[in-house]
This record gives sequence, C-alpha cells and structure tokens, in this order.
Amino acid sequence: MSKKSSSAGTNISSLLQEKRVFKPSKEFSAASRVPSMAAYKKLWNESIRQPDRFWGRHAKSELVWMKPFKKVLQWKEPVAKWFVGGQLNVSANCLDKWLGTPLANKAALIWEGEPASDGKPGEERVFTYAQLHREVCRFANVLKRNGVGKGDRVILYLPMIAEAAIAMLACTRIGAIHSVVFGGFSAQSVADRIQDCGAKLVVTSDGGYRRGAIVPLKKNVDDALILKNEAGELLAKTIEKVIVVRRTAHEIHMAENRDVWWHRELEYVDAKCAPAKMDSEAPLFILYTSGSTGKPKGILHTTAGYLLGAKMTHQLVFDVREDDVYWCTADVGWVTGHSYIVYGPLANGTTCLMYEGAPNWPEPDRFWRIIEKYRVTILYTAPTAIRAFMKWGDEWVKKHDLSSLRLLGSVGEPINPEAWMWYHKVVGGGRCPIVDTWWQTETGSILISPLPGATPLKPGTATLPFFGILPEVVDDAGKAVPKNSGGKLVIRKPWPSMLRGIWGDPKRFKETYWSEVKGSYFTGDGCRQDEDGYFWIVGRIDDVLNVAGHRIGTAEVESALVSHPAVAEAAVVGRPDDMKGQALVCFVTLKTGQQSSKELKNELRNHVGREIGPVAKPDDVRFAEALPKTRSGKIMRRLLKQIASGVEIKGDTTTLEDFAVIAKLTAAEE
Ligand code: PRX
Repeated sequence: MSKKSSSAGTNISSLLQEKRVFKPSKEFSAASRVPSMAAYKKLWNESIRQPDRFWGRHAKSELVWMKPFKKVLQWKEPVAKWFVGGQLNVSANCLDKWLGTPLANKAALIWEGEPASDGKPGEERVFTYAQLHREVCRFANVLKRNGVGKGDRVILYLPMIAEAAIAMLACTRIGAIHSVVFGGFSAQSVADRIQDCGAKLVVTSDGGYRRGAIVPLKKNVDDALILKNEAGELLAKTIEKVIVVRRTAHEIHMAENRDVWWHRELEYVDAKCAPAKMDSEAPLFILYTSGSTGKPKGILHTTAGYLLGAKMTHQLVFDVREDDVYWCTADVGWVTGHSYIVYGPLANGTTCLMYEGAPNWPEPDRFWRIIEKYRVTILYTAPTAIRAFMKWGDEWVKKHDLSSLRLLGSVGEPINPEAWMWYHKVVGGGRCPIVDTWWQTETGSILISPLPGATPLKPGTATLPFFGILPEVVDDAGKAVPKNSGGKLVIRKPWPSMLRGIWGDPKRFKETYWSEVKGSYFTGDGCRQDEDGYFWIVGRIDDVLNVAGHRIGTAEVESALVSHPAVAEAAVVGRPDDMKGQALVCFVTLKTGQQSSKELKNELRNHVGREIGPVAKPDDVRFAEALPKTRSGKIMRRLLKQIASGVEIKGDTTTLEDFAVIAKLTAAEE
C-alpha cells in the first residue's frame, strides 16, 4: 500500500525540521506598541503574576465605561466573572466613542460586493464611523419596533453584506443577544439553533451571491420555520418576526404578519437610540460550534471581557495604525468575523474592508485586485485559501500592485511551512511579517500569536502566548511534558474573553472543557513546545475535524448519515488533504436489502448537505460490509483514519473484534 504524505499543517515531521527564523524588521520594532522581546516579556510576566493589575489597567484605558467596575476577576472554576459591577455598551465602544473626533468622518467599513456574472464590477459602499453609527441606531430602533428587548435572542442568517455588521452592532446597542448562523448552513441547522437558544426574531436576506449563483437564504428560513421534531412539534416556534434585507431582489415569499422588509422598516424609525447600559457579564452573543459529541454547542460570550480581548489583540497582534486599511477575509458566520471584522477593528477605530464573494470569482485574482484597489495594508486570511492561491499560480498575484501590504495574518488551521513561505514571498514581497494566530470560538480572541515588533517568526508556529495567557502542553495525567514532546494543549489561567458557558448546558460546559485536565481549560488541540518555548499546534485530537478551516464534528455528520433510510451505521474520519488541511471521509454500512451505488453515494453527500449544510458535504463516501470495532463494540476510528489516508495499518489491533473487516476495507481500496 502506498504511503501518502501531506503538505498540510498536521505533518509533524516537517514541522520538527523547520529551522528558519525571521526577526522583526526595523520598521516594526521601531514603531509598534510592543517593540522588543524584552518589552513583551516584561508585560507578559506582569500579566501572569499580577493579572488584576494588568487587566484592570487595560480595561480602564481601553474601554468606555458607563459605570466603573469594582473587581477585576471573580473566579470559581469554571465560572468566571470579569470586571464585576461595571456597565458599558459594546456599540458605544465601537461607534459613539469616535463621534466628535476626527475619526467620525473616517471610513469604518468598506464593503465590496461580488462582481456580477456578466462581468460587471461589484458594487461598493463606504460607511464612515458617523454613518455606521446612524445605521446601527436606526436598525436598533427597528429591532425594538419588532418586539426585541434586552436579553432576547436574535438569529442573523445573512450573506457578507454590511447589514450583517449593522445588525450585530444594533443587537448590542439594545442588549439583545445575537447568534450569527453561517450562510452555508441548512434550514435544519437554522431550526436547531433557533430551538436551542429560543430566538424571537430572524434577520435574513432574500438571498446572497456566491460565484454568480444565488444562495436562497430566505427560502431556507421559510423551510426552517416549518420543520418539526419527532413528536411533531415545531422546532422554531419561538420566532415571531423575520426581517428581510433586499439583496438579490429575486422573488421570495413574504408571510403576512411575520415577515417585514429591512428597508421598509427603516421608514418608521428615527436615528436616535441611546445605548443600553449593560453589565460587564451580560450575554453578548452565542455562536454555535461543533464538538466531539451531539449537536453543535452554543458558545456564550459576554460583554466587557470579550470586547477587551478582541480590541487588545486586534491592536497589538496586527499592530494597527491610524491609516491602515485592514482586511479580514473570514465570514461573519464564524468567530473570526465577529472578533476581527466587527468588534476588534471598530473598537480600535480601524478602517475595515468586507468582501461579499469568493476568492476565485470571476477569476482567481479577486483578492489581489481588491488589495490593489483599496491599498489594503493588512490581510488576515486562512491557510486553506493560501494553499488554493499557491495552486492557482503566482501569475495571478503578480499581475497586481500589492506594495501597500505591510502585515499578513493566518488563522483557522496549522499553516504548513511551504504555504507560509509562499505567502511571505509572493504575497508579502518578502517584507511583511506573518502573524500566525491560534485561537478558537471558545477563546473569543487570539491566545497564541507573534507580536510583529517583538517576536522572531518561524514558519509553521503560532509562537508565543498573548498577555495573560498561560498555555501548557501536558500528558494524559495533566503533567507538563518535556520540550519538543507532543501532548494536549491546555490553558492554565482564566482570561477576559474566554467563553462563559454553553447556552443552556452548564454540565456539558464543565465536562467538555474543565474535566479533561484538572484545573485547566482543555483546548482539544494537540501541540508541542520547542526549545524557544514556541507552541506548534498539530491539530485537533478530539473527534472534531478542521476542513478548510471549518470546524465539523464527526458525530454530527454520522448522525446526519444514519438519518438516511438506507444507512445502518456510519463512521466519519479525517484524511490529510493538501488543500483543505483535512478532508471528510465517511464509512457507511447499509441496511439489509440496500444496494451500494454511485447514485447512493451522491444521494448521501446531498443528504448531509441538506441536514447540516453544504459546508459539511463529505469528500468521500465509502461503503463497507462492516466497520472495525473493538470487542466492546466501539468503532476503531484510528484504523479507519489510516485506511482513509492510505497509510499502513499501525499500532495495536489486539482489541479488534474481526480482522476480516479490515482486510475487506483495505482490499476495497486497492
Ligand atoms: O484546531 C485549532 C484550529 O482551529 C480550531 C478552532 O476552530 P474554530 O473554533 O472554528 O475557530 C477558528 C478561528 C479562530 C482550533 O482548536 N486553529 C485555529 N487557529 C489555528 C489553528 N490551528 C493551528 N494554527 C492556528 N493558527
């Protein structure tokens, strides 16, 4: 059997050989806020030894308070309360703060639409801070008019349009809790999320553009609102209103008394809306993410700590300056879009670019065109995109003047050194540092990353912890492992932007994050620390896959597969993939009387697409007569992973119930 290797980030042997070091350039060390390793170490030591002093000082200087806080941290594992007794408003910190200053007329948001399929350039819209403030106040009044108040949950199911950011900020203005659902999720996923958080209202659009096609978002919402559970009850029965943005202007159904148009509603409101006074620990948003078991969990973030984390990391990791044009290519449906398109950049008064479309539409130079057009200075994107650009060829990049770029960022998965070097040389012209930022939906903001004026870079590592963060690599017993040995990544101390829980499920919160390693937050990632103390993230060690930077739980895909009438049993594993980091491979056994076929393979892929969303469609479906199991009946995923990856079967198979199963599975691939 052939041995496949992968250039994706999980190839640890290539990581161990990586020895190149890139020191901060003078341009950065002279001008950035943390200008040297000595400065970094001094501040980091203070942040760990005297966290109250460190965080108290920054919370006072970075945030605008309506009522000062009394206590920096109240910690009773796993419940954290930061900046206790304080009151503030997130939208006021992102918008009102800049009114009456020269920034009021600075561009806050530049929005670029997807070009039309007939080749017409995309639309563009620019909002200054004053204009964005006005739009947010108006939409906050629309929400109020439609019955939304403090603490109510609002689902935002929108394409990458300015209204997504406006709706998020409008929720924070009145103290409503938003839950953004990525546009690549299905009606079923929308319904499940509505049910889980008991949302009152949905904001959506008639559709969104994706590579010239229309994504039928409103239609998906209509479908979600009539879905029922097995007992015949409506899943989304808490929804009272749907507000619809007109984007594609194709025909959609508007339900009387339930659905209203965004633009019509604006006619009834004025632009005055005082920001609600919110407690530091008031829930700010819920964002659903996949775990190793069950349905996605609603990760809960709260007001003050989250905002401080997003603001400070954005300011220091990206070394933002007044005249930067900053572009984060993530979707607002993911946490990166929350922290680094909306909250972090706006709280820092940065000009932030938002793009609606795909990187290769209409041609593979779309990103480089945009950078040239707007003179983008900071680009923050994902390794999957970088690897795709590498494949499409340097000529697409070289056609454009990218001399405005001064800093590059990476997020979402390990970046393999080859992709790092390409990003550095071809996109960054050899002059731009790369900040490889490690974090999670749960962490709220970046926890491990270089600071461009201080940290020498090595391709493939997220380097060192941010202030206040104490990561450690430990063994199964929770003991620190020696340098250069692999282990589990844990965080030893609480930090302001940490998740406060799983919506409605404190037990799962404790079990998932606080039970694996005593006294620590368990990240679910494997890691090693090198002799310089740099953290090299290897990837997930739980049953969560990272496919093209999207987090997908194997359990979720398995349960989608077994809900198909032909399927008896399913096991889903990841296979290394040069482009996407990991590809999703499903092993399926069929019910008696069912025949395997190419059509059924496609049908199963589409079925998962319908159940979870196009984002989770399997790359490969393989039929098997039986799945390898231990004598106690547990599916041996390790073996399936090896079969899926085409590597030789290694390790202990003594608990395997039936060797013939393996022989059949591997023979089928040859
Ligand atoms: O495995 C890690 C990987 O992405 C996971 C978190 O996924 P999600 O919650 O969707 O958030 C993604 C955006 C913050 C982590 O557990 N990951 C994220 N960033 C990196 C990374 N792996 C390696 N290097 C990174 N820079």
